[in-house]
Amino acid sequence: MAEAILFDIAARIIESLGSQALKEIRLLWGARDELDKLKDTVSTIKNVLLDAEEQRAVNNNQVIEWLERLKYVVYDADDLLDGFSTECLLRDMMTRDKMAKKVRIFFSKSNRLVYDLKMGHKIKTIRQKLDAIDNDRTKFHFKERPVEIGVRARNRDDTHSFVPEAEVIGREDDKKEIIDILLSDSNVKENVGILPIAGIGGLGKTTLAQFIFNDLKVDKHFQLKMWVCVSNTFDVRKVVEKILELAIKQKPDITVQMDTLVHGLRKEIVGKKYLLVLDDVWNEESEKWDDLKILLMGGASGSRILITTRSPKVAQITQTIGPYFLQGLDSQKSWCLFKKVAFENGEEPVNSGKVEVGMEIVEKCSGVPLVIKTIGRLLSLENSEAEWVSFNNNKMQKIKEDKIIPTLKLSYDQLPSHLKQCFAYCSIFPKDYVMKKSKLINLWIAQGFIKLSNQNECLEDVGHEYFMDLLWRSFFQEAEMDDLGNVITSKMHDFMHDLAMSVAGSLITKLESKEKIIGDQKTRHVSVINNIEFSFVIPTSSSKASRIRTLLSLGELKDLQESSTSCEAIFSSLKYLRVLDLHGRQLDLVPSSICKLKHLRDLDLSRNQKIKKLPDSISRLQNLYTLRLSGCGGIKELPRGITKLVNLRHLYNDGCWGLTYMPRGLGQLTNLQTLSKFVVDSDSAPKDSGRLGELNRLNSLRGELEIWGLRSREEDVALDYKGANLKEKEHLQVLTLRWRRGNVNTDDEMALEGFEPHPNLKKLKIYEYGGVRVPMWLLSLTNLVHLSLHGCSKLKYLPPLVEEE
Ligand SMILES: Nc1ncnc2c1ncn2[C@@H]1O[C@H](COP(=O)(O)OP(=O)(O)OP(=O)(O)O)[C@@H](O)[C@H]1O
Ligand SMILES: [Mg+2]
Repeated sequence: MAEAILFDIAARIIESLGSQALKEIRLLWGARDELDKLKDTVSTIKNVLLDAEEQRAVNNNQVIEWLERLKYVVYDADDLLDGFSTECLLRDMMTRDKMAKKVRIFFSKSNRLVYDLKMGHKIKTIRQKLDAIDNDRTKFHFKERPVEIGVRARNRDDTHSFVPEAEVIGREDDKKEIIDILLSDSNVKENVGILPIAGIGGLGKTTLAQFIFNDLKVDKHFQLKMWVCVSNTFDVRKVVEKILELAIKQKPDITVQMDTLVHGLRKEIVGKKYLLVLDDVWNEESEKWDDLKILLMGGASGSRILITTRSPKVAQITQTIGPYFLQGLDSQKSWCLFKKVAFENGEEPVNSGKVEVGMEIVEKCSGVPLVIKTIGRLLSLENSEAEWVSFNNNKMQKIKEDKIIPTLKLSYDQLPSHLKQCFAYCSIFPKDYVMKKSKLINLWIAQGFIKLSNQNECLEDVGHEYFMDLLWRSFFQEAEMDDLGNVITSKMHDFMHDLAMSVAGSLITKLESKEKIIGDQKTRHVSVINNIEFSFVIPTSSSKASRIRTLLSLGELKDLQESSTSCEAIFSSLKYLRVLDLHGRQLDLVPSSICKLKHLRDLDLSRNQKIKKLPDSISRLQNLYTLRLSGCGGIKELPRGITKLVNLRHLYNDGCWGLTYMPRGLGQLTNLQTLSKFVVDSDSAPKDSGRLGELNRLNSLRGELEIWGLRSREEDVALDYKGANLKEKEHLQVLTLRWRRGNVNTDDEMALEGFEPHPNLKKLKIYEYGGVRVPMWLLSLTNLVHLSLHGCSKLKYLPPLVEEE
């Protein structure tokens, strides 16, 4: 993760050093020279980072140490620049809001001068540190490589087609199914059908392909059989040479032109029914694949190409039949394989505790033959039962790290740098954790991991693409969908989690016991698992932990009562937090010192029922993107300051039962994509509360919106409802309209008429509606898949909602 992050952060620093915001500040303290120098140094270093990283991979200790030093200065520089842009946001806010006296004092001339001097000094220190690192760079003679270029070569042993049949355990069914597909003519339009087998590393794809390749039926069926290990780099010429060599059974003359090779190849395969296995294909560029495919299409009808690959994407671009997604071995088959390797003569010893421990160990192998075999072999060397027990308790992890992770790491190396850091970040979750897609995307956004290629793109959409890409490439699995077909959660395979932890290294720490505190200076992201109070893990001396960017609270929380003192400790010692998760901690008060967290992007306060209000100082959190208040039933009103959070994109306030109105001015937050609940002001609400018209311009809203507490008002009814302008909210999927109970009134018809949503709406829920009929616009909702009506006691007429055939 470190290296991927470095490259990306360096790019971000260079970008923000050229930003408009910074230019304004530069004028103020005249540090132009310092900043220019800084930009030059960062650019030079960034250009060699990719090369440096490759040298690190071969365990060059000096390079490792150099990169470590660099990492921390680069992080500091990033924090500093983020501080500047926040300063600009605050200054903008002040200009917008001339009345904010406190803020004005804060930015008074003398204060600005102090700020400028302090920052000038800080930037100089960082520049000097970077210069020193840059000086050392020269002794490594790194090559310059300013942009990331695709795939790096992997070092994989060539595979071959031979496997003794007795060695393959538990794949008979897979074999039969695939052979049936290969030998059948149905569903294959072209002469040459292509069937990919896909699955994670070590699952046994190659083994299965060998098993099939050597089958007697297969042998008889095809006139020509060829096995090519593609692995390292996908070079069409190399592949052609290899195929030709197999076809003519001697090495072709490789000095000849490509044309001659191709001619030779076609001569050998034209009119023959052949089987070609391309083992271990990584190339995801469809053009390159097409180049090769064209050359292979000359075979007789019934020819087949069997591909093995880890990448579902490769499977998708190459397949004409299939693809076949290989699964892990079930418990029984896993045990068979394990038995064979771990016990003498492959037989379970009688009356031995080893069987029970062994079964426990096999359970942890997730049906992956590579893992079962590796571990089985090691255990076969351990004689006593006690050694097996100790292995189960202590060494399992180490073995995974040494023997298994390196195989999987090949898949990780293939990822583009932006996905590397997103993936590695997921090691902040415990194993088997159900990751919520929307939450994860927000975390990535908060860390600045999402790159936009143009201004029209939306961070959340690109985040969604990253997520799906990782799912697609099998880094994530077990995706779950909601009833509208949106992927909402997924998990990580046990080994993928190990891999993520191994690449994230010390940058990410999970605190699972009260004994540890956030103290490692290298750590940037921390999750606190289960019932640990923050007072145990937040260090009292602030210097150590001050650079943490993420503090997440995960897992089950029971009877935990977090005090506002520990909140204050967080706010004053963890000033660089981008993400702070305080959900479900029974807080009763959020201290106003929260405004110290000026870098904060994502604040989760959900499920703290005792909180009555939020401090107004929250308006100073100008970077805030996401505010989660779901289930904070005690909150009666949102702070007015919330309307100044111009960057706010997600306000989760579902389950805030106590809310009596929305603040006036909420409608200015036009970046809002999530507003779970809009509360129509009750009689007890202050006079200047926000009316439904606040929704008018919030046309970026997505997902779900509930409008709560509707009632008929004598004055301006229709106007008010129309003012909500639901028709222009094209991204909204679910709309809930809830009238106040006991307010049954036929005027509601006029109201509902005014709530016409955009035809993209998929779900509509209506509660306690007092009208007799529903409006005709219901018929225009052509994408609606769910309509529910609750407590609508007067309702008599519904239009025919299902089209007749
Ligand atoms: N069904 C099986 N029975 C016995 N051993 C197996 C079986 N499947 C796989 N193995 C063993 O597990 C190891 C990994 O298998 P294999 O190389 O086929 O995996 P793969 O899916 O091709 O992995 P990669 O993605 O790295 O290419 C090998 O040592 C292989 O012998
Ligand atoms: Mg393989």
